[in-house]
Amino acid sequence: MQSTVIAPSILSADFARLGEEVTNVIQAGADWVHFDVMDNHYVPNLTIGPMVCQALRDYGITAPIDVHLMVKPVDRIIPDFAKAGASIITFHPEASEHVDRSLQLIKDSGCQAGLVLNPATSLHHLEHVMDKLDVILLMSVNPGFGGQSFIPHTLEKLRQVRALIDQSGFDIRLEVDGGVKTDNIGEISAAGADTFVAGSAIFNTEDYAATIQAMKANIVQ
Ligand code: DX5
Ligand code: ZN
Repeated sequence: MQSTVIAPSILSADFARLGEEVTNVIQAGADWVHFDVMDNHYVPNLTIGPMVCQALRDYGITAPIDVHLMVKPVDRIIPDFAKAGASIITFHPEASEHVDRSLQLIKDSGCQAGLVLNPATSLHHLEHVMDKLDVILLMSVNPGFGGQSFIPHTLEKLRQVRALIDQSGFDIRLEVDGGVKTDNIGEISAAGADTFVAGSAIFNTEDYAATIQAMKANIVQ
């Protein structure tokens, strides 16, 4: 099991003050910045691209930036994000014609690579690419919006992926995204996740440090 990571999703941050918001959340104890990229095509919402990632780097953000691509196609945007300072790039297998090639493209760009599985996406997508994965991101909501409720059957899927990772012997992070809160992070971590994305649960609170501390305190490993 890898070390615990809290990755606030900036989808719920105040975009008018993004640099300040990200600085605050990192100072409050967050480990990564989760950067949700939506294209109004693969998902029904439109957010931010490589220019905003670059702007955060130019602002002085040095924390790992975890780029979650909810775009189709994926390949042509990968080099742009790598150049803009992305650290980790993940994408949905349904959005790529050639999953192995897209993973290799991310790694060749110097970033860590991962696949994202929606609540109803089969674990079979992992079967032939485990050796190329730095991260497996399990969605615990359907992608597109912050502030949705955690889908409970994801817990069983987390346990299955934890077992797959442990059997594989590869050093792969197990990340979970959607509806993660202070009061459910305990059972989510007990199911095997080590990396926790939380948007509304952090940015909709007054005291980011207190929320992140409470989350870390509830993690079971
Ligand atoms: C949903 C995004 C998530 C989202 C999480 O498509 O991938 O990262 O921002 O938000 P919360 O934590 O509010 O469910
Ligand atoms: Zn996300």
